[in-house]
Amino acid sequence: MTEEEKKELKIPAHVAIILDGNGRWAKKRGLPRNMGHVEGCKVVEQTVEDAARLGIQYLTVYGFSTENWKRSAEEVGALMQLFRYYMKRLLKVAKKNDVRVIMIGERSRFDDDIIEGLNRLESETKDNKRMTFTIAVNYGSRDEITRAVRRMMADCRDGKLSPEDVTEDLISSYLDTRLLPDPDLLIRTSGEQRLSNYLLWQLAYTEFYFTDIYWPDFNKEELEKAIRKYNDRDRRFGGV
Ligand code: IPE
Ligand code: IPE
Ligand code: MG
Repeated sequence: MTEEEKKELKIPAHVAIILDGNGRWAKKRGLPRNMGHVEGCKVVEQTVEDAARLGIQYLTVYGFSTENWKRSAEEVGALMQLFRYYMKRLLKVAKKNDVRVIMIGERSRFDDDIIEGLNRLESETKDNKRMTFTIAVNYGSRDEITRAVRRMMADCRDGKLSPEDVTEDLISSYLDTRLLPDPDLLIRTSGEQRLSNYLLWQLAYTEFYFTDIYWPDFNKEELEKAIRKYNDRDRRFGGV
């Protein structure tokens, strides 16, 4: 995309991604599934840089769902090892590109060193301003909403909140995404057209873009294609 074109296009402030197709990408090449995840991690890293350069302010990527624990112990173990490695790389990339990293999802289920790594990513990048990169791990929208309702009810019980206080904004403020605006554009790769428990509340008015390419083949050109498509849409938010 040329600088000229970038000026003419409306860059969505918040892009959310469901990266999918790592396994199929590997299978097509006769490789073990984990090789697809390795390639997929590299693409996440590159996409963080590309999105920041395009002027996207918020990028939110679905890395591991609450349902993904159902995969084989071997695959889950390999994914945890990849997290360990990529969290360190991501810290460097975030610092270099002035990117703030936050994590959404329920982190207590991870091993202690992964929790520490996530905490460190957040604390060491908290003052970065160019873009916020949110990684959804052990994330499920229903789990997020369930945890929010629990905290809301506890606050009610403790006299900090009354039922009349509950508004849409208040509910948003109890969600893991409290620091983020709602996504403008959702991208899902690999040809699947479902939400898989991702950001159910937050995607109420988001434009959806589906592409058949597998996540390890995603790149800057594909991201730009999605943004061009987004520019052709007429967003209405219920109006005419
Ligand atoms: C996405 O790729 C990565 C994760 C969900 C962790 P998949 O692993 O779902 O790849 P496919 O869908 O089996 O091809
Ligand atoms: C969604 O992908 C979860 C992530 C991208 C982390 P899946 O591949 O797990 O989703 P389903 O099972 O096909 O719906
Ligand atoms: Mg999949």
